[in-house]
Amino acid sequence: MKKIFLLGSLNCDLTIRAPYMPEKGETLKGSDFLITAGGKGANQAYACAALGGNVKMAGAVGKDAFGDMLLNSLQSVGVDTSCIRRVEENTGTAIITVIDGDNRIILSEGANGVVGKADISALLSDAKEGDIFVTQLENPFPIVLYALKTAKEKGLFTVFNPAPAYVGAEEAVAYSDLILPNQKELKLLTGKDGVSEGCNILLQRGAKAVIVTLGEKGSFLCTKDGDQAIPPVNVGEVVDTTGAGDTFCGGLCVKLAEGENLEVSARFASLCSGIAVTRRGAQIAVPKREEVEKTVK
Ligand code: RIB
Repeated sequence: MKKIFLLGSLNCDLTIRAPYMPEKGETLKGSDFLITAGGKGANQAYACAALGGNVKMAGAVGKDAFGDMLLNSLQSVGVDTSCIRRVEENTGTAIITVIDGDNRIILSEGANGVVGKADISALLSDAKEGDIFVTQLENPFPIVLYALKTAKEKGLFTVFNPAPAYVGAEEAVAYSDLILPNQKELKLLTGKDGVSEGCNILLQRGAKAVIVTLGEKGSFLCTKDGDQAIPPVNVGEVVDTTGAGDTFCGGLCVKLAEGENLEVSARFASLCSGIAVTRRGAQIAVPKREEVEKTVK
C-alpha cells in the first residue's frame, strides 16, 4: 500500500445548531453546542487513517487546549503527527452554524498560517515515488503551491482539494494530478458553470483526473478517457454535512493508495461520506473501515 502525505489545516470546530440565520443586530437562541476536532487538512488525515490508510500530516497548532484536542484526535486513529508543530499562535478555529443539516463556516487561521518550507521538507523526507500527496487551501497559498510542486517533482501522485474557494488557486492546477473541487470551486478555477466544461479545462491544463463533488447529487468523475456520474449513497437522514467532502477525500485517497482505480475509489468515497452526514461534527462523524464494509450497498 502507498503511503499518504498530507499538508493541511487543523481547526477547533465550535458548532451550534440554529433555526435560521439571524439578521444584523438580532440575537437568536441556538442549541446543541459542540467543541470538536476539525480543519479540512486534519479531517482528511483523520479520514484516511480511520479508513485504513498509512498517513503522515504536516501542519501547526497552538500550545493550547484546542491544539491538544486536535493532536489527540489524529493520534487516536494512528496518524503520524511528528510533522505537526506546536507554535505560539492560537490554534485555528472554525465557527460553524448548522441550519437544516447545512453548514456556514467562519475561520480564524491562527497557527495554520505559520506552516513553512521546512515543514514540507520534513513531511516528504521519507516519501517515495508513487506515494500520494494531499492538500487543500486553509494554509497560506504560497506554501500550498510550494508543497504541490515539491511533491510532484519527487514523483508523488498529487491530490488537490481547492477548498475553501480561493481566487488565484488556478496556479496550483499545473502541479495537481487529481483535482477534487465542488461546483463553486470548479467555477472559480475555470470560469465555467458547466461541470463537464470546467473539468475539461482542468484536464487541458495538465490534471490527469477531476472529481467534482455535487452534494446530494453525488460526484462527477472526469478523465481523458471519459466522464462518469458517481451516485450518492444514502444511508439515513442527513443531520450535518460538515466535513463530508473531507471524508470523501479520505476514502478516495485510501482506495487509490491500495491500488484501486478512480471509479472504485470514488464509489467507496461516496459511501464513506454518505455515512458521515448522518451524524454531527467532522472527525467524530467519520466512519471506521469496518463500519463502511458492513454498510456495503
Ligand atoms: O470541511 C469542514 C471543515 O472546514 C471544518 O471542520 C472546519 O474546521 C473548516 O475548516
